[in-house]
This record gives sequence, structure tokens and C-alpha cells, in this order.
Amino acid sequence: MDKFVIDGPTPLHGSVSVHGAKNAVLPLMAAALLARGKSVIENVPDLRDVGTMVKMLDLLGAVTTSNEGVLTIDTTHADGIEAPYELVRTMRASIYVLAPTLAVHGRARVSMPGGCAWGPRPIDLHLMAMEKLGAKVELSHGYIEASCDRLRGGEVNFPISSVGATAQTIMAASLADGTSVIRNAALEPEITDLIDALIECGVEIEGRDTSRVVVHGTTSVKPLRHRVIPDRIEAETFAAAAAVTGGDITITDCDPSHMGAVFAVLERAGCTIEVGPNRARVRGPKRMHATDIVTREYPGFPTDMQAQIIAALCTANGVSTVKETIYPDRFTHVPELRRFGADIRLDGNLAVIRGVPTLGGAPVMATDIRASSGLILAAMAAQGRTEILRVYHIDRGYQRIESKLNALGARIERVSQ
Ligand code: UD1
Repeated sequence: MDKFVIDGPTPLHGSVSVHGAKNAVLPLMAAALLARGKSVIENVPDLRDVGTMVKMLDLLGAVTTSNEGVLTIDTTHADGIEAPYELVRTMRASIYVLAPTLAVHGRARVSMPGGCAWGPRPIDLHLMAMEKLGAKVELSHGYIEASCDRLRGGEVNFPISSVGATAQTIMAASLADGTSVIRNAALEPEITDLIDALIECGVEIEGRDTSRVVVHGTTSVKPLRHRVIPDRIEAETFAAAAAVTGGDITITDCDPSHMGAVFAVLERAGCTIEVGPNRARVRGPKRMHATDIVTREYPGFPTDMQAQIIAALCTANGVSTVKETIYPDRFTHVPELRRFGADIRLDGNLAVIRGVPTLGGAPVMATDIRASSGLILAAMAAQGRTEILRVYHIDRGYQRIESKLNALGARIERVSQ
């Protein structure tokens, strides 16, 4: 297991590029199963989670090859129907293979993902949607057993907005008999990317970028040829890193139009942000100002940036509040940030952060992808040395983050133990 040894403080300067979006590529890889033949996906990041999805596709009989960010998925012999516990438990998004496997083979057996470090994370909406499209769904011995003759179009009204359930439903509806209407569909850019990719494959879909998506099912989906959108969370993590270290960085190969909520918060906290096509320059103040944030579905402030912004606000001038409305328990980073000397009080789903003048490096432990990047931000702002254990979490969602940050002036060493 690797650890990071980080010496701070290090203001960040220079230019850094952003890789393809993890949360867009995972459903796209599953969507390749809807077609027979060779799909080609470009701008695929080299991440642990992508590796896990590759293993899943291999197990289902697909043949994958990868070269310089171009992933080819040949589904000619993808006849498997089972997603086993050993893989699903390492990555929840493996559940994305449910809809395409069911739609193509009329049967799927997928392990239930279970909870995670930040709470129960149910999948009831995924299952409800499959039933609305005509599947029979049973839970047996920790597995979802779904079957149908052929999926048929239906009405799916989500009581709350779910990224995963929306993606799952769009995939299932693409091969269903007839038209499906999805209400309260998630608006995240990664959903729009999936819709765009499926439209390119010949599926007729209306309501792109709206909460009412209409999918006209087809009998055959063409193999994907698609370039993944930039990873907004990686880009926003770099922006928060510039903010907390008082740096001045230019983030390239990103899509600033996806980052409005985070940029608005950083500007309120004293950053200067200039946005151009596919790039953004972020200059941090000497010391950030306190601010109040509520996480929301897109286009609101993303829960996936909550740990990083709390880390950044630990040294802001004044008292900040961060309310987590998507995953009320998603605060495993808070006890770790306290080890740096941060003054954070938790009151249910509200974090109250009283800014301290400086943090001090400390030994800490990464608990999930975004919590880990929050700890890296705190370490780059802190005086002295930090050791972050269990950095495999960060490799799930960030490609060689230490190389990118070191090129901006950070001092991060990866140590294999
Ligand atoms: C996706 C992202 C994750 C992000 C999250 C919220 C991927 C691979 N992961 O996760 O990084 O933090 O969106 O932006 O894209 N819910 C239910 N029942 C369900 C499904 C969800 O109650 O069947 C609830 C969840 O508990 C949560 C809310 O809906 O409170 C939103 O979760 P959802 O959007 O589904 O998250 P994921 O797709 O799992």
C-alpha cells in the first residue's frame, strides 16, 4: 500500500491539464455492452476505477484494449450475465452493467453494492426503474436477479434526483420496445455525455440537459465512438488547491461551463478566476474569506467537492459552514483534518469551520477518493510534513495526482510500503 509524504506549505504556480471524467467514462464503458461490435472511447483516464470496470467487462466476455487514453471494447462475445461481489464491492459503479446486460440478454445477476464509508447508499431507484421498464427483479443471497423477455418503454418518475439511476434507466430504455419518459432525471454533465454518446449510436433521445428525458427505444444500438468530457471534479480540486495555497494556476483541457457553482464559491472566498475556452486561471488570495456552502445536485455545489472545500476553508478568515444534503454522513475527512489542527464542529449534516491561521502537517489516513484529495490540499497548505496512508483511494479517481501537483510546485513523494 502506497503512502504520500507531503512537505508544505507550497503555493502552486503553473499550468495543469485535466483528464477525462471518471463519472462519465464508467457508464459509457457499460453502455458499450448495449451494442455488438467494437466501441471506441477516447480521453479515457488511467484510473483504478476504470481498471475495475475493464475487469468487469472482461468477465462479461468483452475484449478490451487500451492505448494512450483510447479504449476499445469489443463486445462480439460478451455473453456473460453475472457481476460478482468481488468486483462490485470494490466499486459501486459496477452496478451500471445491470441495465445493458438485462436489455441485451434478458437476464442479469449483479451483486448488491452494499453501503460505503459515507452511509447506506441504496439502489432502490435503479431497481424501481428496471421494473417500470418491464423487468422482474428479485433480491437473493446478496444478488440482484433481473429478467425480462424484452424491456418495454415506460414512465419512470424519480422521487429524488439520482445520477446512477438516471444513467441506468437511459441505458435500459435505449434497447426497450417503445418510448420511455424519465422525470426528475439528473442534470449532471456526465448524464448529458451519456445521452450524447447514445445519440451518436443511433438512439433517439429528447430532453438532453433537462430533467425530463424521453428515450425512443431501438432494436440495435451501434458501437460507441465517443470522446469523454473533461473531469470537472479533478479540475475543481486543482482550483481549490490554488485557492488554499495562495497560488496562481491555469487549468487546461477543462470545461469551465461545468464548474460555475465551485467557481462562484471560490470567488466569494477571495479568489480571482478568469475563464477562457477550455481553460481557467485561478489565483488564490493571501488568506481566503469564510463562506457558507450547501451541496446540491448539479448545477449546485457538488458533494464530490465538499471535502476539498472544507479543507480549503480550514485556514480561511472567519467561520464557514458547509451543509451536506446529498450524503448527510459524508464527513470521514473531518476527524483527519482536525489532526492538522483544524477547528471543525459537526452538527448533523452541517460542518462549522472556524478558520485557524495555519495548519500543521500530521499523519492522516485517506478514507475515500475525495476525502483523500481534501487531505492533500490541507497538507500542501500546512506547515511541515504530512503522511497520508491508504492513497489507493485517490488512485481510484485521480490519475497520478502527485506528478501533476509536483509540476505546480508541490512536494509530494509516493512511498511504496
Ligand atoms: C454519483 C457519483 C458520485 C457522486 C454522486 C452524487 C458516479 C460513479 N458517482 O454517485 O461520485 O458523489 O453521484 O453526485 O457517477 N439514492 C437513493 N436510491 C438510489 C440511488 C440513489 O436513495 O437507488 C440517493 C443516494 O443515497 C443519494 C442521492 O440519491 O442521497 C444521490 O445519489 P446518486 O446521484 O445516485 O449517486 P451515485 O450515482 O451513486
